[in-house]
Amino acid sequence: MTAPAPAHLLAIEGMARDSILALLERAAIHKRAMGQTARATPLAGQVVANLFFEDSTRTRSSFEIAAKLLGAEVLNWTAKGSSTSKGETLLDTVRNIDAMRPVAMVIRHSSSGALTLVSRHVGCAVVNAGDGTHEHPSQALLDAFTLREAFGSLEGRTVTIVGDILHSRVARSNLHCLKALGATVVACGPPTMLPEGLEELGCRVTSDLGSALEGADAVMMLRIQLERQSESLLPSAREYAHLYGLSQARASKLKKGAVVLHPGPINRGVEMGTEVADGPQSVILSQVENGVAVRMAILEACA
Ligand code: CP
Repeated sequence: MTAPAPAHLLAIEGMARDSILALLERAAIHKRAMGQTARATPLAGQVVANLFFEDSTRTRSSFEIAAKLLGAEVLNWTAKGSSTSKGETLLDTVRNIDAMRPVAMVIRHSSSGALTLVSRHVGCAVVNAGDGTHEHPSQALLDAFTLREAFGSLEGRTVTIVGDILHSRVARSNLHCLKALGATVVACGPPTMLPEGLEELGCRVTSDLGSALEGADAVMMLRIQLERQSESLLPSAREYAHLYGLSQARASKLKKGAVVLHPGPINRGVEMGTEVADGPQSVILSQVENGVAVRMAILEACA
């Protein structure tokens, strides 16, 4: 008898609405159970391997905490200090870690699509923790979880995404997730940072921040990713902040009850001011808190 294929999480694109909702509902159960001493540990005796070829604070830490709360042991592997420096390839690296029999590998890599390739060469489940400019599915799921905490359902809500949508795996995963959950998405950024085809995905597209913020229930400010820009698509940081930064004055004109999100890390004073990042409309630390419960649901579904 052949073993069942592992359940990977590689992308939100193509995921059914019901599958997204099932993960979010399971995450809500994990969040409610957090802090209870008598929790189930369905991954006891298993190992989750975190493989980060790129730096991370939130994603790596919360996958580690999520795995431990589920009872798993965690291997934290980073490219720095590994045999990658000796020229070992991505596929050799993951096949060697896979030979140590983890139940899942949580991988971040700079190449878009690298994890789809990896998933074809290993026996364990592969969880995409961010691949190049492609997708960051666990981020979109925790964002949706946070928005559902604020609004109940996303059906009929308007979410404005502001910034470097061209380079943003967070934006790409969120576009698919928010659309699947019935939200209207407005994409806003400098014309050089808006990819072709957003209208075909059902987004309203504008380079005017004022009109993008009008009527929004939530604003998701993206990090300006200097590490992924091979050409100068950006005016100076000061000009970007002037045109696209969420100042207190702009935030005060948001609809009553609107919330502000950012995936982190924040370039304070560029994407938003400190008074907005730490102000009453910000749900940024709730996003981080919810990341643990959402990643517990993801790991549980993979195992
Ligand atoms: N949001 C996010 O991916 O943050 P990290 O790069 O710190 O993991």
